Amino acid sequence: MSSWSKDDGPILRIERVTVDFFVRTSFFSTKPIHAVTDVSLDVTKGETVALVGESGSGKTTLGRATLHLVPITGGRIIFEGTDVGDLRGKELMSFRQRAQAIFQDPFSSLSPYMRVGQLVEEPLVIHGPKSGSERDQRVIEALEMVKLSPATELIDKYPHTLSGGQRQRVSIARAMILRPDYIVADEPVSMIDASSRAEILYLLSELQERDALTFLYITHDLASARHFADRIAVMYAGRIVELATAPQLVEDAKHPYSQALLAAVPEPDPANRLRSRPVVGGEPPDAGALPAGCAFHPRCPVAIKGTCEVIVPPLIQLSDGHEVACHLYPAAGASYVGGADSAGASDAGGDEGSAEAAAEARSASMTSSAASNPGSAASVKSSQSESIAISGVTP
Ligand SMILES: Nc1ncnc2c1ncn2[C@@H]1O[C@H](COP(=O)(O)OP(=O)(O)OP(=O)(O)O)[C@@H](O)[C@H]1O
Ligand code: SF4
Ligand SMILES: [Mg+2]
Repeated sequence: MSSWSKDDGPILRIERVTVDFFVRTSFFSTKPIHAVTDVSLDVTKGETVALVGESGSGKTTLGRATLHLVPITGGRIIFEGTDVGDLRGKELMSFRQRAQAIFQDPFSSLSPYMRVGQLVEEPLVIHGPKSGSERDQRVIEALEMVKLSPATELIDKYPHTLSGGQRQRVSIARAMILRPDYIVADEPVSMIDASSRAEILYLLSELQERDALTFLYITHDLASARHFADRIAVMYAGRIVELATAPQLVEDAKHPYSQALLAAVPEPDPANRLRSRPVVGGEPPDAGALPAGCAFHPRCPVAIKGTCEVIVPPLIQLSDGHEVACHLYPAAGASYVGGADSAGASDAGGDEGSAEAAAEARSASMTSSAASNPGSAASVKSSQSESIAISGVTP
């Protein structure tokens, strides 16, 4: 474990990261898939930040980029003050040891031909002590840490003889055995039965508290993000569209997409199950052919005609720690997060001048549309309170 402390600044800085994949469309040409675009996020040591969004929004790609597992097209990933893109040799090995992943599918991420003891020991063979007895001791400790007991009996079992929850605990033991500082937990409970989900999330919380671990928690499930995360970043079409503390996001979501996600959370009170909820129709866009302007505009019930389909809304700070990228919220005196240039991340233009023009176009368009069209700031406020009242996402 490293000596990095909160006073040293964010343990992880994601600085304007873009990840494009290039897929071959013919023998001579390729097409870019915009998986992640211009994402910035600072994560403090010991913090859990949840990445939430529909399928294809870029959550896994961003998580993998922070682990240096996919090449980034633009921006930087800074871990403990060092650009991970510059790491080589022993430094890269050390980073790999300290930054671990827990994957969604404990069925496919564990080799069926290896016993539990071998599976948990495997990362140590590369990064750990040379002595076999020391490694055995660490395996037992790791299994006990994830509450798999009696550990001495479990080490000889094969994964197929375990329940889904037990298998995910084995995956967590594999990640924890190297005593990491940072973990990307990519949908760690989505493929296990409901009764084990809460237990696994509690286990992760306990481990986090014990070792001041930092988590990037990737999920579709806003309710679990509310319980497990300190902050929630909502992603849509490769961008962060809203970032806030978990309670703030659940109780006072500003972005129409965040509100739609909240509205889709199942109602825990059976009496309210049949109540109608505002649901945003349509499908998430194809990352190879993103709509111009705000990528959410074809589905947005309150889109501002003439603005939303033209200008990419920059992420602005609404209040302390609450950021949103939506033309409905050009908060008075708000500053562009990441500077004027990030406002110009719009496809409509990237320089400072065009950022100012965009801000002007925004406020002009909002003044006229607020009076005349349902896509107004006033109307989104009422739909917002409705969706939150309906969502029933209570801790
Ligand atoms: N290796 C790859 N090559 C080409 N396209 C990719 C690759 N990996 C991801 N993509 C594309 O990038 C986009 C983002 O994918 P990603 O897996 O990051 O989304 P996600 O939010 O994790 O989705 P899910 O919730 O389904 O796991 C998708 O359009 C996906 O098809
Ligand atoms: S109002 Fe415009 S900018 Fe905001 S989410 Fe809807 S389409 Fe996007
Ligand atoms: Mg994913």
